[in-house]
Amino acid sequence: MRKKIVAGNWKMNTLPAEGETLARGINEFMAEYNAGSDKKIILGVPFTHIDRVIHSVDSEKIAVSAQNCSQYDSGAYTGEVSASMIKSLGAEYVIVGHSERRQYFGDTDEIIGHKLAQAYKNNLIPIFCCGESLGERMEGKYFDVVKSQIINSLIRVEKSNIVKTVIAYEPVWAIGTGQTATPAQAQGMHAFIRRTLADLYGNAIAGEISILYGGSVNAANSAELFSADDIDGGLVGGASLKAEDFKTIIKSL
Ligand code: 13P
Repeated sequence: MRKKIVAGNWKMNTLPAEGETLARGINEFMAEYNAGSDKKIILGVPFTHIDRVIHSVDSEKIAVSAQNCSQYDSGAYTGEVSASMIKSLGAEYVIVGHSERRQYFGDTDEIIGHKLAQAYKNNLIPIFCCGESLGERMEGKYFDVVKSQIINSLIRVEKSNIVKTVIAYEPVWAIGTGQTATPAQAQGMHAFIRRTLADLYGNAIAGEISILYGGSVNAANSAELFSADDIDGGLVGGASLKAEDFKTIIKSL
């Protein structure tokens, strides 16, 4: 059965001590809250915070994710952090292909494909992000854009790995803008993503893959979004930095 997931993406926010306080707050809440075995809570933290956050939470209840990894194994790549380094700290997930990486740091579908391969090779579960820009939505090209992002990046991924992958649909126009996709818009795209995965890998595998929605998810809109058939939870930016809001979002899963 596919998992329901709430993942926070802290982006480049908080100093390590602040991150630890935030993580401890969520951990205290999770100690009391019975989420159920089909649910997963993930904190996507900066590299500098991974070790500290892992030691501040109960790994049975909260998993930790990096927000990026190198496309390479190791070597002369100044400033890069490898998937093996991330894994060695105890992180379980890595966000790959976030639109901010695509937009500001040149992550192409091909590079994202290599990063996915690094994640699988090092036993990290990738949270693969896709989503169209505002212009692409206005032009009615959103299904084509998302399909090509999925096909071009996941093309080399084997069935045994794809089934472990988490997909996050994050329309760029909804990220950090306060303008959330409507539940109908999000559900429409999630169903399309699942059909695309079914065409590539078969219905059984497509049915196992968690597809998260991201883009201005908050404490007021999460319950309605998460109630849609193909929305298996959320990848939450701004609201994941506010402990009370994040707890409400977890409860709405
Ligand atoms: P916001 O929730 O701040 O819109 O960010 C979404 C996002 O990019 C999560 O990865």
